[in-house]
Amino acid sequence: MNDSRIIVALDFSSAQQALDLAAKLDPALCRVKVGKELFTAAGPQLVAKLMASGFEVFLDLKFHDIPSTVANACKVAAGMGVWMMNIHALGGRRMLSAARDAVPVGSSKLIAVTLLTSMERSDLSDIGLEREPQEVVTRLAGLARDCGLDGVVCSALEALGLRKTMGDSFCLVTPGIRPANAAMDEQKRVSTPRQAIENGADYLVIGRPITQAEDPISMLLRLNDEISGLAQSS
Ligand code: C5P
Repeated sequence: MNDSRIIVALDFSSAQQALDLAAKLDPALCRVKVGKELFTAAGPQLVAKLMASGFEVFLDLKFHDIPSTVANACKVAAGMGVWMMNIHALGGRRMLSAARDAVPVGSSKLIAVTLLTSMERSDLSDIGLEREPQEVVTRLAGLARDCGLDGVVCSALEALGLRKTMGDSFCLVTPGIRPANAAMDEQKRVSTPRQAIENGADYLVIGRPITQAEDPISMLLRLNDEISGLAQSS
């Protein structure tokens, strides 16, 4: 069984680049994330190839549409056998519940994005939400849990509070991870892998620190090592 907590973000624009990087990794030591750029370029065939190589795939397409459309998309993703997929909590209760109904508990993990971390107080104000981002995140995470979702994507900072309010079995997936002394790229609020796990994260999404490393597998081993022995994943 794969007990790694690291999900490597394959943020590439072609199947070849993604497969070249995957060939440098080990499916026993990580999982991989396929997002909008790569999926738009390479589609389900690439997902199937990664799975055939032994990788468990997090399909990060953040579905957000009317309930039946999202439910049907989730059903297709579950049928592909992806390990995890996500939808937008802002789609509301009926959309979240329809997605849950379409993805049987115990098949693919179904998680929600609450607020994009790129959204600040002023962005919420622009769309008529006079609320603090943290308050909206907590509310949307609670809604996702009420609708039976398996967890949410959140920052390491948010993980600290959500772990307390959402309980131990709610899955927290945390991007914005940088090893100590690594380049920040455009990420603003970053945490080290150890800090994120200590804050309650179950899985860490890590892109460039691994994909742009001179030796990706050594970096993956180093990061796995840094968090091994910390609390168990759910
Ligand atoms: O390269 P890096 O480690 O910054 O990649 C992080 C990954 O996590 C990217 O795929 C990015 O889209 C995703 N992500 C993020 N922040 C969020 C949600 C997703 O960085 N709030």
